This record gives sequence, C-alpha cells and structure tokens, in this order.
Amino acid sequence: MRSGLACLLGLAGAALTNATFSVEKRDGPAVLTVPMVPDTSRQLAKRSKSVDVGLKNERYVSYVANVTFGTPPQNILAYFDTWGNGCWLHSVNNSDCDLYVDHSACGGYGSYNLTASTTGKELDEKFAYDDSGRMITGDFVTDVLRIGGVKVDAMKMGIVTEAPITSNTLSLGYGNASSISLTQALADAGTINSPAFSLWGQTALFGGVNRARYFGPLYTFPIVNGSDLTKAFRINMDDISINETSAASTKFPLDAVFDTAVTMSYVPKSVAQALNAQIGNTSVPDEYGQVNFSCSAMGENSTIEFKFGELEFQFYLSQFVSQQSGTGTNDWWYPDEETCYFTICENVNLQDEGSIVLGSNFMSRVYAVFDLENDEISLANLNWWERNPDDIVEITSGKNGVPGAKSGVSEATKDSAGTHIEKGPGMIAVVVGAVLMLNV
Ligand SMILES: *[C@@H]1O[C@H](CO)[C@@H](O)[C@H](O)[C@H]1NC(C)=O
Ligand SMILES: *[C@@H]1O[C@H](CO)[C@@H](O)[C@H](O)[C@H]1NC(C)=O
Ligand SMILES: *[C@@H]1O[C@H](CO)[C@@H](O)[C@H](O)[C@H]1NC(C)=O
Ligand SMILES: *[C@@H]1O[C@H](CO)[C@@H](O)[C@H](O)[C@H]1NC(C)=O
Ligand SMILES: *[C@@H]1O[C@H](CO)[C@@H](O)[C@H](O)[C@H]1NC(C)=O
Ligand SMILES: *[C@@H]1O[C@H](CO)[C@@H](O)[C@H](O)[C@H]1NC(C)=O
Ligand SMILES: *[C@@H]1O[C@H](CO)[C@@H](O)[C@H](O)[C@H]1NC(C)=O
Ligand SMILES: *[C@@H]1O[C@H](CO)[C@@H](O)[C@H](O)[C@H]1NC(C)=O
Ligand SMILES: *[C@@H]1O[C@H](CO)[C@@H](O)[C@H](O)[C@H]1NC(C)=O
Repeated sequence: MRSGLACLLGLAGAALTNATFSVEKRDGPAVLTVPMVPDTSRQLAKRSKSVDVGLKNERYVSYVANVTFGTPPQNILAYFDTWGNGCWLHSVNNSDCDLYVDHSACGGYGSYNLTASTTGKELDEKFAYDDSGRMITGDFVTDVLRIGGVKVDAMKMGIVTEAPITSNTLSLGYGNASSISLTQALADAGTINSPAFSLWGQTALFGGVNRARYFGPLYTFPIVNGSDLTKAFRINMDDISINETSAASTKFPLDAVFDTAVTMSYVPKSVAQALNAQIGNTSVPDEYGQVNFSCSAMGENSTIEFKFGELEFQFYLSQFVSQQSGTGTNDWWYPDEETCYFTICENVNLQDEGSIVLGSNFMSRVYAVFDLENDEISLANLNWWERNPDDIVEITSGKNGVPGAKSGVSEATKDSAGTHIEKGPGMIAVVVGAVLMLNV
C-alpha cells in the first residue's frame, strides 16, 4: 500500500503542462482531451477568504479551460465545475469588467459581446442562478462554443450582466431544466458517445478513459443522493483514517460530493473532531471550519487514507496541510515552519452540497470517471509520475460503458444507505477554483 508514496512526495506541481487543446482525429476514438491552463490572473482569489496570500514560491494550477464563444471566436477562460449545473460567461457589459481598460478581456478571463457575434442569439428566457447563495442573473443566449478542434453549434449559455464576484463557468455535471452542462452538450453534438468524462491532475478527457494514467483497478460506485440535496457527483465514502487508524469509523458511510470549485475538503463536525484529535493539539476551528496546529506535531511520514468500498487511497498527510490559512495544500513538508493548517476542514459552509465535500486538494490526486448516463463514478489511483504514453479508450453508451471498470461497492456496506448529515443554517460558501501547488 505504501509503495507509491515515495513517488508521490516528489511530484508536487509536476502536473502542469503547457496546455492547448487537442482533439483526436476522426478515425480515432470519439474523445476530447482538455488540459487546463494556469490561472495566471487569479481573479478568483477574490472569492477566497485569503485574498493576497504570499505566492512567492507557489504557482496556481487550476481547472481553467481555454475556449471560444461566438463568431468570430471570442477568447474565454472558463472554470470547469463538477458541482454546479449551469454554464455562464460574463457579459462585456458586466460592471465587473468595467474595472479593466479592455472590457472584453475582463481581467484576462474574457467576456462575451453578443453584438460582436454574427451567430449569437438571445433567447426569450432570463438566466437566474443561485451560486451557493449568490444570485447571478442575465440573459440566455445560444452561440458557437469551440473547445479545441471541436465545435458545439448552439451552446446555451447564461450571459451574466448582474453578479457579485463570479467567474466564467462551464458545468460538467447534470444541468437542470434551464441549463445544459458542457458534458451533455458534447454528447448531444456527437463529439463523444456518452455524457461521461475522466478527470485527473489538471486534465479532463471527455468520452474516454486514459488507462496509462491510473494503476490498480478502476472501481465503480453508484451516485447517491441525500433527500434534501440536488443531484450531483456524489457517492458514499466508507472511512477516513490517519496512519491507517480510523477514529471516526462509526460515522461512516457518508455521502461525499466532488467539487472542483473549492480548494479544500470538508467533513462533518464529528469526523473533523476525530481527525483533529489524531493530529494532536489543534486550535478550535475558525469560522470556515479550519484548524491550525504546530507543524512538529504532525509527524514525518504520517499518512491519510480515504476509503470507498474496495478502494483505499493513501496519501502523505502533509499533502492535506498548508502553510497558509484558507488555501489548498502546499504539497510539501515544512519541518521548520511553526504553524500548519489542516486542509480537511469541518463542513460549516457547504452543507448544501453534501456531508463531505471533496475539493481540488483531493480531486487533483485521484483518477476519476464521471458517467452521467449511468449515474456512476469510477475511481482509481492516479499514475502521474510515470511518463508512459497515453492509452485512451472510448466510453461507450449504455450500461458498463466505462472500459475496464468493475464494481467497487464492498459486500460489507452494500446494503447500507449511507448517512447524510442534515444541513444546518450555513454561511455563504467560500469557493475558489484553484489548487495551490509548490513550485519545485
Ligand atoms: C488561449 O487560447 C488563445 C488562442 O489560441 C491563446 O492566444 C491564449 O494565449 C490562450 N490562453 C492561455 C491562458 O493559454
Ligand atoms: C450592453 O448594454 C447596452 C445598453 O444597455 C445594450 O444596448 C447592448 O446590447 C449590451 N451589449 C451586450 C453585448 O450585451
Ligand atoms: C461590442 O461589440 C460591438 C460590435 O463589435 C462594439 O461596437 C462594442 O464596442 C463592443 N462593446 C464593448 C463594451 O466592448
Ligand atoms: C438550475 O439550477 C440553478 C442552480 O442551482 C438554480 O438557481 C435554477 O433555479 C435552476 N433552474 C431550474 C429551472 O431548475
Ligand atoms: C434520491 O434517491 C431516492 C432513492 O434512491 C429517490 O427515491 C429520490 O427520488 C432521489 N432524490 C433525488 C432528489 O434525486
Ligand atoms: C490558530 O487558531 C486560533 C483559533 O483557534 C487563532 O486564534 C490563532 O491565531 C491561529 N494561529 C495562527 C498562527 O493562525
Ligand atoms: C499538547 O499540549 C499539551 C498541553 O499544553 C502539551 O503538554 C503537549 O506537549 C502538547 N503536545 C504536542 C504534540 O504539541
Ligand atoms: C504516523 O506514523 C509515523 C511513522 O510512520 C509517525 O512518524 C507519525 O508521527 C505518525 N503520525 C500520527 C499523526 O500518528
Ligand atoms: C520517514 O521516511 C524516510 C524515508 O523512508 C525515513 O528515512 C525516515 O526515517 C522516516 N521518518 C520517520 C519519523 O519515520
């Protein structure tokens, strides 16, 4: 179980590629590979509670895709969001963009100018979207979305004229009655066979599985829901332990949702308290549910395990510890630093999403396949240190469309429904769509 750990520690920040899109040729599999681009503008830092964290030695790696919308193409950088169900872009008229000399560049992320597009059509439907407690409003349009060599002719998109701080967003999830997700739009356009995608490190692969990027079995789990929750990428988690010692096993299974828009991960209070107790003398959680502790108390080589049925992920605990409050992990061991911040926090703000929220500090470390047609998620250990060539196979439509995947639901917990911690009065969510990684 530990064999991979030595390699893992050496890899911080290695996943960043000099990214542009690539699309497989017609005679190849029906897949679309989208490597993320660095979030150089970091406008979204505004959405984090730590606005100006010292980024001297770090660089951001994030779920940002480089796309165009309109004819002629207008350049847009948009966040890939696994939690939400809407797709929206800033309007060039948005007051957020007034802050910039070049309105259309809008801080480097780009904004949409309907008047400048010959293919844009304004729909007779208003866009109103509740983004974790903040209302985003504007108009719906359809226009040409280009993502790499692939074109979606009439992509429905909310064009935001009124908003608090927000960002261009492309949902990869289920969509709802008014919004379609990018994944579904690519399936409808025939680019991919089935609305499904793989996500690992900072790469999204629509319609396919890259067998060279994971090792061990690819285990499949059914999507679950809490009765009061919106349908989302949510499965049961069976345990979290430190040094293979579980302090909260009786609280599990718990529903766990995948959310690329938050950097940290969140667990119910009872689980947070048990994990914090294992680390030692932690502070009381701050208003965001995060604790700090003396770095020396963490212990070198401490590990953390996440269990889903037959599958266990093991990482160094230091990968879930940061030197700064409110950010994702720094990915390194800092024996000389005094204060460490645990990036698995008590879920105080995101209870609307689920009991456990797995942010990009977790998601960027696993290989995951999200299958919207079959309501399943497949997971495997990420193989990102080996430079072996891609081995991409298509996901087909219908049952068992994810090649090589097998059920990961263990006999022991098969019939357990999974506990959902009911939501309490939450605060406005703190979200930021990026992972902070160390530049090594
Ligand atoms: C996005 O794509 C455009 C057009 O190919 C390119 O000019 C631009 O540099 C890219 N942006 C990033 C951040 O990669
Ligand atoms: C911007 O606002 C003006 C006036 O409100 C309107 O006429 C125009 O169509 C808008 N442009 C876009 C691109 O939304
Ligand atoms: C939008 O595009 C139109 C037509 O190209 C242009 O006249 C207008 O200035 C643009 N609006 C902004 C705010 O850049
Ligand atoms: C779609 O989802 C958004 C965000 O949850 C919500 O604000 C909107 O009302 C939903 N629209 C419909 C038609 O259900
Ligand atoms: C959640 O699952 C239950 C049982 O599987 C189902 O009856 C219910 O409709 C689902 N709720 C939602 C919101 O999808
Ligand atoms: C640690 O957390 C406590 C709150 O429990 C806070 O008072 C203290 O300032 C924090 N320490 C650091 C160095 O951030
Ligand atoms: C925890 O706190 C107690 C009491 O303040 C102290 O004696 C002990 O050394 C601390 N342990 C660690 C690992 O810091
Ligand atoms: C975990 O085990 C390692 C030795 O393998 C030890 O150094 C470390 O202190 C332990 N951590 C915790 C939190 O118990
Ligand atoms: C941590 O692992 C390294 C490499 O295996 C080893 O040299 C070191 O002694 C270990 N430290 C502890 C406290 O177990």
